[in-house]
Amino acid sequence: MFRIAPSILAANFLRLEKDLQTVNRSGDILHLDVMDGSLVPNISFGFSVIDQLAPAVSVPMDAHLMVVEPQRWFDKIASDGVSMCSFHYEAAGSHSAEYLARIKSLGMKAGLVINPDVPVDRLFPYIGQADYFLLMSVFAGFGGQKFIPESLERAASLKREIKRLGADALIEMDGGINMTTVSSVRDAGVDIAVAGSAVFGAADPEAAVRALRGA
Ligand code: DX5
Ligand code: ZN
Repeated sequence: MFRIAPSILAANFLRLEKDLQTVNRSGDILHLDVMDGSLVPNISFGFSVIDQLAPAVSVPMDAHLMVVEPQRWFDKIASDGVSMCSFHYEAAGSHSAEYLARIKSLGMKAGLVINPDVPVDRLFPYIGQADYFLLMSVFAGFGGQKFIPESLERAASLKREIKRLGADALIEMDGGINMTTVSSVRDAGVDIAVAGSAVFGAADPEAAVRALRGA
């Protein structure tokens, strides 16, 4: 099933509860973009926000850690009730397998993320270890960027390798997904599409989520 994960990076923080209810009613997963200003050139929000919003969320939470030393935060994220936790290969390098195992040992699904300039085959050794792979379809750091079309072939190639190995890892894609790009994302084999501005920038965010899922 093709699932939509609204990203609250694009939500209105003056009425965050209302935007969370939109996700509870229409979304499949809530995507949380945590940025540290080091791994990526932006700072978003951290645990003071996640701690407070967690009790108001009724869909699974998906933390996308755009931070250096992501392993410092796995325990805290698990204690907030997050069910999917991903970190960047660019931050973890040779520790990636260890970090995936640590996330799983905390009872969360473990995801490995790459930016568009990292060859997709760098993920192949982790098939069988990661529960999901997050392919950035923009450079991580900001919402509202334009979808990079080469991301589609990267997803298809990763999907082929997952199938060839008989594994069951999911593929998530993040960045620039809207009504124009979403059907090609789904057709490329993506299981979970993250959408920020296409949801919270819409006049009717709930309808936007449903339209993206059914496109
Ligand atoms: C970017 C974030 C994305 C972002 C997507 O670094 O990882 O999750 O919120 O926003 P849109 O859908 O606006 O590209
Ligand atoms: Zn994200």
